[in-house]
Amino acid sequence: MIAIFASLAPRFAQVEAVMTRSLASDEPRIQQLIEQLGSFHGKMLRPALVLLVAEAVGTVTADHVRLGAALELIHTATLIHDDMIDEAATRRGQPTAHVEHGVSIAVLLGDYFYTHAFDLVADFEQRWVVPRLTRTTNVICRGELHQMCARRDLGLTEGEYERIIHAKTAALCELAGELGALDADGGVRAAAAAYGHACGMAFQIVDDCLDFSGDPQKVGKTLATDIERGRLTLPLIRLLAKQAPAHREALGRQLLEIRSADDVARLRQVVLDSGVIADAIATARAHVADAKRHLKGLPAGPGRDRLGDLADFIVARDF
Ligand code: IPE
Ligand code: IPE
Ligand code: MG
Ligand code: MG
Repeated sequence: MIAIFASLAPRFAQVEAVMTRSLASDEPRIQQLIEQLGSFHGKMLRPALVLLVAEAVGTVTADHVRLGAALELIHTATLIHDDMIDEAATRRGQPTAHVEHGVSIAVLLGDYFYTHAFDLVADFEQRWVVPRLTRTTNVICRGELHQMCARRDLGLTEGEYERIIHAKTAALCELAGELGALDADGGVRAAAAAYGHACGMAFQIVDDCLDFSGDPQKVGKTLATDIERGRLTLPLIRLLAKQAPAHREALGRQLLEIRSADDVARLRQVVLDSGVIADAIATARAHVADAKRHLKGLPAGPGRDRLGDLADFIVARDF
């Protein structure tokens, strides 16, 4: 487990228990399927955001645990669907759901996870929670759709890339921060939300770098899917922008004409040799600095310090 999360182990167990209870079914075939999925949590970043913010601004309650479980279910649903779209074989060190059970079951499993997340929050006392969660889910779907519509477009700008990662990743982290501060006053809640958002932006940029530079054993998922699917992320956007026009065209062709694993490996090497990964990581670091600035809106103390450490981990991680 990640060191900063050590104090959260008992809470993570509770989050997992809520997810297991929520997904449980009286139908033996369904129950068997859910049990076969085994451990359906990864790094637990979104529940960690909820719980660590809650700790920093007050006390952790059963509500935070339930909200953390709901966010992790939504996140997992997006991954089940995303892996089908990416035709990825491995996730969290295991075969992906569509590889293990086929595409039809994986589509439905993703839906099953989404709907159970909504069920977990349906009767929440704070009435704003349900619309915030449903709208954020809406934004995530829009982000994934936007990314699909922009694939193989060499004209994708950094601004549009930022809008995509805001929607597909940072919006959920923003909500995690906000829900951690569920009972805090408006200013603290807004600061926690902004902290979560900046962490989410950094997190996705690092993920996009790891797609090129990561060790698949450590990361536990199929890598290089972004270039394989013609998806431009920050390193490649920067690399294209740096080229003289003739080179840009040749590099663009190389991306659009990827057919084989060798083509992927060649382009990956060009990116690694170019220095744009370090460039992109510097941008992720700027988001982390932004996240830490927002932490000034939270009460000082060890809880707030741990949130600073979490932000550092996001950019230092290699998995
Ligand atoms: C992967 O998220 C998808 C992105 C938003 C980059 P995580 O890296 O948090 O995946 P798990 O939950 O740890 O498997
Ligand atoms: C997916 O982004 C993020 C979602 C919100 C679904 P990626 O496609 O980069 O995630 P990985 O790399 O497959 O985990
Ligand atoms: Mg993916
Ligand atoms: Mg990725």
